Amino acid sequence: MSVKIFLNEDEIPKQWYNLAADLPSPMQPPLGPDGKPITPEMLAPVFPMNLIEQEVSQERWIDIPEKVLEILYRWRPSPLHRAVYLEKALKTPAKIYYKNESVSPPGSHKPNTAVAQAWYNKEFGIKKITTETGAGQWGSALAFAGAILGLEIKVFMVRISFDQKPFRKIMMNTWGAECIASPSEETQAGRHILDEHPDTPGSLGIAISEAIEAAVTDKSGKTRYSLGSVLNHVLLHQTIIGQEAKKQLEKIGEKKVDIVIGCAGGGSNFAGLAFPFINDKINGAKIDIYPVEPTSCPTMTRGPFSYDHGDTAKMTPLLPMHSLGHDFVPPAIHAGGLRYHGMAPLVSQTIIEGLSTPKAVHQIETYEAALLFARTEGIIPAPETSHAIAVALQEAKKAKEEGKEKVILFNMSGHGLMDLSGYESFLSGHLHDYPLPEEDLERAHKAIEGLPKPKVVKTGKW
Ligand SMILES: Cc1ncc(COP(=O)(O)O)c(C=O)c1O
Repeated sequence: MSVKIFLNEDEIPKQWYNLAADLPSPMQPPLGPDGKPITPEMLAPVFPMNLIEQEVSQERWIDIPEKVLEILYRWRPSPLHRAVYLEKALKTPAKIYYKNESVSPPGSHKPNTAVAQAWYNKEFGIKKITTETGAGQWGSALAFAGAILGLEIKVFMVRISFDQKPFRKIMMNTWGAECIASPSEETQAGRHILDEHPDTPGSLGIAISEAIEAAVTDKSGKTRYSLGSVLNHVLLHQTIIGQEAKKQLEKIGEKKVDIVIGCAGGGSNFAGLAFPFINDKINGAKIDIYPVEPTSCPTMTRGPFSYDHGDTAKMTPLLPMHSLGHDFVPPAIHAGGLRYHGMAPLVSQTIIEGLSTPKAVHQIETYEAALLFARTEGIIPAPETSHAIAVALQEAKKAKEEGKEKVILFNMSGHGLMDLSGYESFLSGHLHDYPLPEEDLERAHKAIEGLPKPKVVKTGKW
């Protein structure tokens, strides 16, 4: 039995898949501060125009530039694994597959878009990129891309992860990038938060505000900001994952996949695997598709669908998304990449349509799943990834109870070798679950009070 399915380099997908072209109900536009849809020109101080064009594109397929493919070949196509050892341990009739994105040099799915974004910025004449990072996976991916393409990178890293994961900063420095803890004294947004909450663990929302401010206040005009998730073009760049997975499943003779799972922070990891399968679902396939989040930051499962800012200082346009409120500071769980108050509007729309069904899991369950995975398959997963593994285990156990040979596919979005302090806390019994208290949801509703309300548009087909 094959435990790994490879593709040759010439089998790599040559185009990205844009779900926006196929959504049964159209996306609602991002809005400016006046409540009117924003124009591409309004985004120009923040992003290069070639990426803004992708952001608003309605083309179903977008060519991947040859020069971007040349860099992706360093680790892509990534292997698809059959988790035979995990299946054996679970005594499940289910067949579990995982797409292994941990083989990239920084160790996650993030460089799929980091390389593309850095390349488009360089083409546009940009010299420096600023960004935020939660767990450090995104910051190190952009640092890696910057090193290869010769761009200066500055990363604002959420304080709690900066302290929990010091090796991520060293990785970024090794690739030549600068990494500072957020909130910082370097920006107005950071100083404002530190004045009010000197001991804050930080949040992705705050770090995004700082990184945007640093980009737009740079007088040279040669600095732009880059986001590691949430936006349409970021999700687009990740769809290479699901397209490869489909080819690999076909290669091994799987005619159908029953369940597709990905953890979701801002949504790009989930979207990267799932969107090509959502296309199949739109065209009649019967697939259960699950984005997974922590119960401590339950954006999709409990957050209202609303227009909200992507950052704390309200520098981004208003996006139609599930949100816990732009001022939300999530509990200091170890899955730093899943501590985000919002969700990619494209993912939110798939939830509203019933094309995907979100699930939330507790922190302890994710570590139990991670340990079983590490002790059977051998790879130590990132704490974010463990959320997807936990749901894969739930589904494999259900398949056993029902006696069904289901095909389950999840995204192994990253390894956890830089996240061992979380494992240490779990192994020594110091970890807890932090389900979000009801008061915090009331606070989320307050944060979005007065903002425009998006329409909940669905066809009712799923
Ligand atoms: C390993 C890993 N998986 C998943 C995610 C979540 O990614 P996304 O924001 O694309 O949903 C992150 C985010 O940092 C991550 O580091």
